[in-house]
Amino acid sequence: MAEAYIVGAVRTPVGTRKGALKDVHPADLGAHVLKELVDRTGADPSAVEDVIMGCVMQVGPQALDIARTAWLSAGLPESVPGVTIDRQCGSSQQAIHFAAQGVLSGTQDLVVAAGVEQMAKVPMGASIVQGLDFPYGEGWAGRYGMQEISQFRGAELMAEKWGYTREDLERFALESHQRAGKAIEAGYFDREIAPIAGLAKDEGARPDTTLEKMAGLKLLREGGVITAAVASQISIGASAVMIASEDAVNRYGLTPRARIHTLAVTGSDPVYMLTGPIPATEKALSRSGLKINDIDVFEVNEAFAPVPLAWAHDTGAALEKTNPNGGAIALGHPLGATGGILMTKLLHELERTGGRYGLQTMCEGGGQANATIIERV
Ligand SMILES: CC(C)(COP(=O)(O)OP(=O)(O)OC[C@H]1O[C@@H](n2cnc3c(N)ncnc32)[C@H](O)[C@@H]1OP(=O)(O)O)[C@@H](O)C(=O)NCCC(=O)NCCS
Repeated sequence: MAEAYIVGAVRTPVGTRKGALKDVHPADLGAHVLKELVDRTGADPSAVEDVIMGCVMQVGPQALDIARTAWLSAGLPESVPGVTIDRQCGSSQQAIHFAAQGVLSGTQDLVVAAGVEQMAKVPMGASIVQGLDFPYGEGWAGRYGMQEISQFRGAELMAEKWGYTREDLERFALESHQRAGKAIEAGYFDREIAPIAGLAKDEGARPDTTLEKMAGLKLLREGGVITAAVASQISIGASAVMIASEDAVNRYGLTPRARIHTLAVTGSDPVYMLTGPIPATEKALSRSGLKINDIDVFEVNEAFAPVPLAWAHDTGAALEKTNPNGGAIALGHPLGATGGILMTKLLHELERTGGRYGLQTMCEGGGQANATIIERV
């Protein structure tokens, strides 16, 4: 049975919209993690067979196959190609899946999965500025009508369906900030972060926030429960993960750190949009033969607080094991980069704590989700 190993994982610190990374070009962010990945693993860069990079807003400075641009910007060999993919917020988690599948199928031995998003220069929605008079095709409108499809509405629909009050969500957000603050202070992320532009730590955490402060923020929509405090932040960052076959490990003297145990991807209701991690987790568990309690650490993207809360409720996962060092509410969510960032966090947390199994899952636009189980080796 072929194996796919994670032999390296690195990320930038996650910057805030107006912070230290606001003027760094996305190709340079991507180049930085790719170069660091090659240096840290000791891999021969010319042996990399493909660079698969997740990026959601593929326009402006992120257009024209940024996987390729970032690799070349890093000074790495022109003989190595790159491809940019869009599975919405899970794009770089999908990049990890494609890379692992290339290795597991025996058609490739060494593949890099990466992600990038510079949300200060290429804001959310930047890719939908053309053809605004032409929003829905007949097939879509016939099936779903002309109703609003957005993550903000999806988050409200989830909170309503699972019965979360604004305070429930704010308590979750508070915990995320406190965990993140503690992890940053203790240096838990230092091994996985490649400092850039004078920034060595994640910028977004507000460990001194309080329930009172959060309760004073305005609602994103009247009658709802979602505020800026219970949403993931607009961020800037990049991530890169190297996946190797047994043969590549031996040939290039690489160090396997975890093996890809199980991959799953599912679709769910596109109007609710954000519920996908629930069926994706169920599918991954059933494929793996593992039970929810066998997993030592979960990384579940905190796109909005109702997502991890409803996920934990329905899957029975323990919240203490979920995003133990804070999530995107506190640390930010640079869309295309987040999949690789969560995997980097998951791997390092398993290593720090001696855990065996880790599971990562993320909600994605269109009502989709990837779930990945890794086993530390
Ligand atoms: C929710 C959102 C619209 C808010 O944007 P914003 O208004 O620019 O956000 P800010 O960070 O400036 O926060 C707004 C205010 O809340 C305050 N605030 C936010 N979180 C806070 C917290 N935890 N404690 C105290 N204050 C907080 C900010 O300080 C700011 O206050 P100010 O206006 O006095 O400066 C934006 O973060 C967003 O779009 N998030 C979701 C991203 C997304 O959809 N990603 C894809 C997932 S599916």
